[in-house]
Amino acid sequence: MTATLVTGIGELVTFDPAHPGPLGVVSDAAVLTVDGRIAWTGPAASAPRSDADEVIDVDGAAVIPGFVDSHTHLVFAGDRSAEFEARMSGQPYAAGGIRSTVAATRAATDGELRARLAGLVAELHAQGTTTFEIKSGYGLTVADEERLLRLAREVTDETTFLGAHVVPAEFADEPEAYTDLVVGPMLDACAPHARWIDVFCETGAFTVEQARRILTAGARRGLGVRMHAAQLGPGDGVALAVELDAASVDHGTYLTDDDVEGLAASKTVATLVPGVEFSTRHPYPSGRRLLDAGVTIALASDCNPGSSFTSSMPFCIALGVRELGLTPAEALQAATLGGAAALRRDDVGHLRVGARADLAVLRAPSYVHLAYRPGVPLVARTLRA
Ligand code: NIG
Ligand code: FE
Repeated sequence: MTATLVTGIGELVTFDPAHPGPLGVVSDAAVLTVDGRIAWTGPAASAPRSDADEVIDVDGAAVIPGFVDSHTHLVFAGDRSAEFEARMSGQPYAAGGIRSTVAATRAATDGELRARLAGLVAELHAQGTTTFEIKSGYGLTVADEERLLRLAREVTDETTFLGAHVVPAEFADEPEAYTDLVVGPMLDACAPHARWIDVFCETGAFTVEQARRILTAGARRGLGVRMHAAQLGPGDGVALAVELDAASVDHGTYLTDDDVEGLAASKTVATLVPGVEFSTRHPYPSGRRLLDAGVTIALASDCNPGSSFTSSMPFCIALGVRELGLTPAEALQAATLGGAAALRRDDVGHLRVGARADLAVLRAPSYVHLAYRPGVPLVARTLRA
């Protein structure tokens, strides 16, 4: 048994109803972890200090649960900075660049992909993220999708089969034949390495009918359902996600009132990815509207080389506050507990007794600084399990 006491915490956010307010905040606090799990939280003065093998004094810093980034595309090769630069001079984003990442990714060796992935995972960790999902989707052949998921599995259990990202160039004229491949041999090869299945349901990607076929085939194989929808325009994708009891429907840049009503009556989380609106000059969706309707929201990075090449959850929190209409507390909750809900996990995203001991120590006296000091590297230390 190994016990660690983290003490000298100026402000501790737990999301434990045993502590005050919606965030369960404790001032002048300490956390005792035993074998990688939270064993006790409370005022430092009453901490069970004698039990600890190691004491970490954070000298008045704020401590929050590690971020749960429920939407990333971290396994890829190549660079699309020229596409970003063109977009910033007025070119629209229509997801067409995905195929250029597919070409670069197919050409890369496992070693190259692994090295790139390790660098991105280090970025996430340095910015306080302790749980993250990774999608495939830049392979789009049976062997390449299987390969991307195998590599993703080396760094996370939260892996998502996204063979239905776009129809690859070699199937451009036969999207139905590609859909057959996805629900047949590709799903067979990928299901053993995945926990989730996802479809990019959008004009120019996959139709609602194709999405239904792919997601139900995945669900029959035991995969949980998640979806990309309403990113480039309104559509029926959100309704399908709700109908299929998807854990999460992601983007939601163009949600209709019916979408919001459907989400509010469901368990499906709306995952907002404001790095995308930032990087594509699309309008930001309103997080306020969703919360006011009673929808559970998550914030995620959607880290990918095309629409949102940020690995920073603090940046997403700052955008959530400034552009999505969230309070700093709501944005923090969406980036921790909300992400956990989007992955249907109850062991992460909070610091209740029994949770995984995932903590981010901030170089700041309060979590509010995450939005108050945008762009500043405020995560001093990330402790995982
Ligand atoms: O989540 N929307 C589809 N997929 C990614 C974009 C991928 C890309 O542009 O490479 C997204 O935004
Ligand atoms: Fe995405």
